[in-house]
Amino acid sequence: MLWGGRFSQSMHGLAWKLNESLSVDHRLALQDVRGSQAWVNALQAAGILTPDEAQRLHQGLAQIAEEFAQGRFVFQETDEDIHTAVERRLGELVGEVAGKLHTGRSRNDQVATDFRLWMLDTLPQVETALQDLQAVLLQRAAEHVETVMPGYTHLQRAQPISLAHWFLSHFWPLQRDRQRLQHLRPRLAILPLGSGALAGCPFPVDRHALARELGFLEASPNSLDAVADRDFVVEYLFIAALIGVHLSRLAEQIVLYTTAEFGFFELSDAFATGSSLMPQKKNPDLFELTRAKAAYLNALLNGAMNLLKALPSAYDKDLQEDKRYVFEATDTLLLLLPVIAAALRELRVHPERMKIDAFMLATDLADELVRQGIPFRQAHRKVGELVRKALEQGISLEQATLQEVATWGAIQPQVVLDPLRSLARREVWGGTAPQAVRAQLQLASSLLKSQNSHS
Ligand code: ARG
Repeated sequence: MLWGGRFSQSMHGLAWKLNESLSVDHRLALQDVRGSQAWVNALQAAGILTPDEAQRLHQGLAQIAEEFAQGRFVFQETDEDIHTAVERRLGELVGEVAGKLHTGRSRNDQVATDFRLWMLDTLPQVETALQDLQAVLLQRAAEHVETVMPGYTHLQRAQPISLAHWFLSHFWPLQRDRQRLQHLRPRLAILPLGSGALAGCPFPVDRHALARELGFLEASPNSLDAVADRDFVVEYLFIAALIGVHLSRLAEQIVLYTTAEFGFFELSDAFATGSSLMPQKKNPDLFELTRAKAAYLNALLNGAMNLLKALPSAYDKDLQEDKRYVFEATDTLLLLLPVIAAALRELRVHPERMKIDAFMLATDLADELVRQGIPFRQAHRKVGELVRKALEQGISLEQATLQEVATWGAIQPQVVLDPLRSLARREVWGGTAPQAVRAQLQLASSLLKSQNSHS
């Protein structure tokens, strides 16, 4: 018990259950030991520990780190959280000198430090998982630069696009997410340790050296803020929730495009599920679950926001619940991203089902009239009338156009209303023309590679 002196009775068993956090924060084990190792150095440099004491503490901590790494560390019923577990074990290993480790430190600045370290350690895994999915999208795009598919707005057939363009349209949101994760770093890599419980450490530790040693960019400038600041949690959860939204939008389209009605895509059997009742069914459960996980990620963000909104100054025990959100979000992302990547890698594409009818080229027809000097609004009306006529007569837009050729002059319907040519006209940077898509692919691929290194 950490506060034994003041109390005459030990904690009630039920109270203990609510109060403990080891069941969640045991995941901070390695970071907790690392923080303590640096703290030993800081205390020694400040003249609080003799070199001999520091050395003994270091030996104990090194052994604890090893026990964690090898899964040999034995937790006890009486360990309230990861910090108490490590300190208890240190006492068993090195004796009384272990009692000097917590000098000038509080679990308040300790847990905030551990948590930030954990995220600094773990976020690269999320970035890599994003990158792996991006690589698959890029690969699938490269296979389909000249595959024409119907593009939709309002889920209504709009204009033909390149399937590569579609794949890449799901690459860029993830690129921004990865950027967002990197931009979180300057606010995440701030060292709280040395803030004490709330007012700052009363011993002359060099917090800047401590920050450098632990890989932080800076030491926090205000101890009250340092022990309570969880902005990095919320920012991360927002990014996680947004990744969820991006994955969910992709998933929704996979669900739609694998229906018999669309048939653009087919899931490989390894990434589909069957029905217990209907023998013919092949279901996109994994993509439906992706939509559902997006809801969960969003709930985690909302949970953390609510956790923080009314906390009075400095540390409050509510903050013990913050880790849960981040662990859950991270586990969810690291579960989801690789599955989607693998499923997309094996996704079968059926270009023959991606039929383009001439109505989807009505804009091209109007554009052609524009090229002949007709103002766009007028061209739009003319083609609109033609569409109506074709629909009334039950003929294709191509046939209807042919009937107009005499009056419209030099228009060649088979050229204007050719889907591949329609694509090729959109050669503008960012457009769906194969040439533009190739340039896009090149940029995407170089960005994917250049951000490969995590500092
Ligand atoms: N287990 C606690 C947490 O995760 C550690 C900090 C406890 N601090 C305190 N003053 N009770 O937040």
